[in-house]
Amino acid sequence: MIPLANPFDLSGKTVLVSGAAGSLGSATARACAGLGARLILTDIRRPDDLAEELHAAGTKAQAHQLDTTDRDAVEACIASLGPLDAYAECSGIYSKGDWRDGGDWDALYQRIMEVNVRGPINMMRAVMRGMIDRGGGKIAIVASQAGRNAGTTLDVEPAYVASKGAIQSLVRYFARQGAAHGVTVNAVAPGPILTPMLRASGQPFDLSKLPTGRMGEPEEVGGPMAFLCTAAAGYVTGAVLDINGGLHFS
Ligand SMILES: NC(=O)c1ccc[n+]([C@@H]2O[C@H](COP(=O)([O-])OP(=O)(O)OC[C@H]3O[C@@H](n4cnc5c(N)ncnc54)[C@H](O)[C@@H]3O)[C@@H](O)[C@H]2O)c1
Repeated sequence: MIPLANPFDLSGKTVLVSGAAGSLGSATARACAGLGARLILTDIRRPDDLAEELHAAGTKAQAHQLDTTDRDAVEACIASLGPLDAYAECSGIYSKGDWRDGGDWDALYQRIMEVNVRGPINMMRAVMRGMIDRGGGKIAIVASQAGRNAGTTLDVEPAYVASKGAIQSLVRYFARQGAAHGVTVNAVAPGPILTPMLRASGQPFDLSKLPTGRMGEPEEVGGPMAFLCTAAAGYVTGAVLDINGGLHFS
């Protein structure tokens, strides 16, 4: 009997993970490695530790320092990498500040939009070009539940909310651009995930008010991100997948 092809298999595929030094980026990279992918790991902080960890586990992985907001550096880096089968965008920053006060808020807003929106656009521009030329590719981006419902608590800062709303719109834009060329573009919208970023946000979460009674784990975002990089998700594009344990239904 001929064995059935496994549509979740990433063996022989090269996946670029941006933001790979972070919690959700490293969880996404590990999930892709578990499915057999080769990894290219980028972050503004070169993700050497993760590359070493993956090497030790038998996965080919290379680490690069890359600031997504530096358009020239992004173009040069992506051009040097060779063909990419999938790209998982996991970089981002969270913001704390009071938009009513003025003060530094305008600078905060600009920084957030720069990193959370223009950075991914720089990466999309560079990555999609090669995927379109080769007739296919998979792209998955970490958005946020905050872009759906303005966040779980009232303390979420509006520049962050705006940046994650923008990512949802851009996913649909790029999905339409890529569809005729075999390039899928999707996002995930995580609710509260137990990460240093969430702890640093200082938001007062009441676990008893979460339907599952707990926050999500980074691996529970990494798995769905990896799925969106596989052939199993071949007809999924322009989707924003909620990962929130039933906290919010879109
Ligand atoms: N943690 C959560 O609960 C949660 C929930 C929803 C959405 N998100 C989103 O998921 C993404 C990852 O979050 P995380 O919890 O893993 O945070 P994290 O801080 O652990 O990871 C983010 C990574 O992005 C990198 N980065 C920042 N600016 C960069 C730049 N200019 N160029 C390249 N890399 C840059 C950081 O160095 C870091 O490694 C973010 O976009 C965040 O908004 C997180």
